[in-house]
Amino acid sequence: MGLSPLQRLFQDPRVLALYERGRESLLFRPVTGRSLDEEVAEILAAVDDGAGPHVLDLGCGQGTFAVEVALARPTFHVTGLDISPSQLDRARRKAAVAGGGVSFVLADAARMPFPDASFGAAFSMTSLHQMPDQPAVARELARVCLPGALLFGACIARPRAAGPLTRRTQALAGVWPLESDRWGELLEQAGFRDYRYEQRSPVWGAFEARRA
Ligand SMILES: C[S@@+](CC[C@H](N)C(=O)[O-])C[C@H]1O[C@@H](n2cnc3c(N)ncnc32)[C@H](O)[C@@H]1O
Repeated sequence: MGLSPLQRLFQDPRVLALYERGRESLLFRPVTGRSLDEEVAEILAAVDDGAGPHVLDLGCGQGTFAVEVALARPTFHVTGLDISPSQLDRARRKAAVAGGGVSFVLADAARMPFPDASFGAAFSMTSLHQMPDQPAVARELARVCLPGALLFGACIARPRAAGPLTRRTQALAGVWPLESDRWGELLEQAGFRDYRYEQRSPVWGAFEARRA
């Protein structure tokens, strides 16, 4: 699996530690429009409104959200998927300390190693805009979700408002984020319905859609 310069940067333990501290403080709030606890509450609402206890965290990174959800819903199982081995090393260490029904898989979101209809809910936090083949990611999400599954995503979804830092980061990722309308189209073409989007900050937003 070839990694982009940004994905390689996210292998550096110092970057990972900084990112995690930022996520757990209120540092991200002006960017994403939500605190970590608020995001966890939104994910849990989507998981509870889904189609069963198998939950996918796409682009799970260090497993921050996967572990929170597993701890909050002990009868559920959360599978975190990420393309970065060092992120997953940290995620696995965190899961071992936290316990709970969570496991992690190294793979590309555009080619997921899961059978069709594996998950009753899926979420993806601050990751979709880093994935180069977004149409393939939308198709894979539709394939691995059960009918009725709820998908919740928070990502850069208004790139025309991006400032220099976001432009630089995305250049490192080697991918330009999709506008929210385009995500809606891709997901509906792939087999989701009822796409709803909410703008959270000038550049970031969150969406929900249900697998038909
Ligand atoms: C900004 S981090 C967010 C991590 C985590 N969701 C969080 O909010 O803390 C983005 C993650 O997406 C992962 N990623 C990027 N492209 C990917 C791909 N094609 N397939 C799977 N994961 C990918 C990166 O390795 C990274 O861990």
